[in-house]
Amino acid sequence: SEQGCLSIVVLGASGDLAKKKTFPALYHLFDQGFIQSGEVHIFGYARSNLSDDGLRERIRGYLKGAPEEDLSEFLQLIKYVSGSYDNGEGFEKLNKAISEYEASSKSESYRRLFYLALPPSVYPSVCKMIRTYCMNPSSHPGWTRVIVEKPFGKDLDSAEELSAQLGELFEEHQLYRIDHYLGKELVQNLLVLRFANRLFMPLWNRDNIDNIQIVFREDFGTEGRGGYFDQYGIIRDIIQNHLLQVFCLVAMEKPVSLKPEHIRDEKVKVLQSVNPINPEEVVLGQYDGYKDDPTVPDDSNTPTFASVVLRVHNERWEGVPFILKAGKALNSRKAEVRVQFKDVPGDIFKCKKQGRNEFVIRLQPSEAMYVKLTVKKPGLEMATEQSELDLSYGMRYQNVKIPEAYERLILDTIRGDQQHFVRRDELKAAWQIFTPLLHDIDDGKLMAVPYQPGSRGPKEADELSAKVGYVQTHGYIWIPPTLA
Ligand code: BG6
Repeated sequence: SEQGCLSIVVLGASGDLAKKKTFPALYHLFDQGFIQSGEVHIFGYARSNLSDDGLRERIRGYLKGAPEEDLSEFLQLIKYVSGSYDNGEGFEKLNKAISEYEASSKSESYRRLFYLALPPSVYPSVCKMIRTYCMNPSSHPGWTRVIVEKPFGKDLDSAEELSAQLGELFEEHQLYRIDHYLGKELVQNLLVLRFANRLFMPLWNRDNIDNIQIVFREDFGTEGRGGYFDQYGIIRDIIQNHLLQVFCLVAMEKPVSLKPEHIRDEKVKVLQSVNPINPEEVVLGQYDGYKDDPTVPDDSNTPTFASVVLRVHNERWEGVPFILKAGKALNSRKAEVRVQFKDVPGDIFKCKKQGRNEFVIRLQPSEAMYVKLTVKKPGLEMATEQSELDLSYGMRYQNVKIPEAYERLILDTIRGDQQHFVRRDELKAAWQIFTPLLHDIDDGKLMAVPYQPGSRGPKEADELSAKVGYVQTHGYIWIPPTLA
C-alpha cells in the first residue's frame, strides 16, 4: 500500500553514493511532496561515530542552493544510527529506532525501505542482519524492501552466487536492483517511442536499419576511483549494465502489456538471443596516464574504453550490428542511441554523398531526439543537403524539470513498481553475454590499446564501426538548439 508510515534506511550513510545521490534524491522527493513529514522517517546507518546533526551537516553540504526552510525541515526527518555491518548489536539498535517511530505514528501499516549504499561485498551480511533483526513486524500490514546497486558480481559465477545468497533471504519482489540508466527520462521514453508510434513500427528491423550504436562518452578519467575501477573496467562499469539495458529497450519485442513482468520477460528474451561475442569485433582502449594513479597497478590491462559489437540471432535483427561503445577521458560527455538506416535504393539524388538517415536519441546532456534527413537545399538550385527534425527537450518542454534518475527509482520502490529494476534472470543473461570476453581480458588474451586522453578513443574503434557498416556523415554536426 502507499499508505502508512514509511521508514527509509540508508545504509552506508556517510559514503559517497549516499551523500551525492541518495540523500539529494530523497530531498527532492520531499521537496515535491512525494514523501512528507509526519509520514516518513529517514535513518542513516554507518560505522562512523556521528551525531544526528553531524550527519545532517554532511548532507547539507550536498544540497547547496536548496531553500533553507525546506532543507531544515527535511534534515529534521533524518536520524543517525551507528553500528557495524556484520553483527547484530547495531541492527538491533536500528530496529529499535524504527519501531519507536512506528509506534509513535498514527498509522497501522509499517513500510520499511532499506537502501544499501554499500560495497557489494557486504550485501550478504547486511541482508542477513536486516532479515534477522529489522523486518517489518508481521502483526502489521506493510512491507520490507531492499535496494541494491551494481556491481553485482564480477562474472557469471560470482553474480549467481550473490543472487543465490540474497535470494535465500528475500523474495524477488522485495529486491530492487538499481540500474540508474533505467531512471533516465529518455531511456524511459524508448518504450513509448517504439510501441506508441506507428511511424517507427514498420521501420524497426533488419530490412531498414543498417546498424545501431549505443554510445557513452565521458570527458574525465577515473580520478579518485582508480582502486574500484581497476577491479572492474569499463565493460563491467558501463556496458554490461547501463548500455545493455538501453540495448534491451531498443531491441526487444513488444511486451504483452506494461506490467513489469511482461516488460522484463521481453528483455530476458532478447538478451538470450544475443550471439557469443566475436573477439574480432571488440576494441579495447586504455587512456595514457590511467596508470599514474597510485591505486592502479603499473601493469594494468583494465580497459577504460571498449567498443563491442553484439549480434542478435532473431528474425528482426539478424545481420544488424549493435555497437556498444563506452569510454572515459574522451573529448566529450554524452550518451546516445544512434539508429542508422540503410541507403536509399535506386537513388536519383546521389543521397549517398549526403549521408544516411539516422534517428538519434540523445540521452544526455541536452536531451533530444532528432532524425537526420536529406532535404532540398532552400533556394533556386535543385540541390540537396542534410537537415533534421528536431525534438529538443530544452526547447519543447521549457518549464519542465526532468527528474533525476535516483529520484524516480526510489519513488518506484516506495510504490512497489519493479518495471525499471533488473530482475534476477535478466542479470544472469547479461553476465552470460559478457563473461567469456571478460575472462579473456582478465587472462591477458585481449589487450587494451593506448589512446590520448581528450581524444575520440582508439582509431581502431572507428575502424571497427566502419567495418561492420556504420557510415559516418562528414560535414554535418547537430547543434543542440538554444533559446534565443
Ligand atoms: C556509474 C559508473 O554507474 O555511472 C560511473 O560507475 C559513471 O563510472 C556513471 O561515471 C555515469 O552516470 P551518468 O548518469 O553520469 O551518465
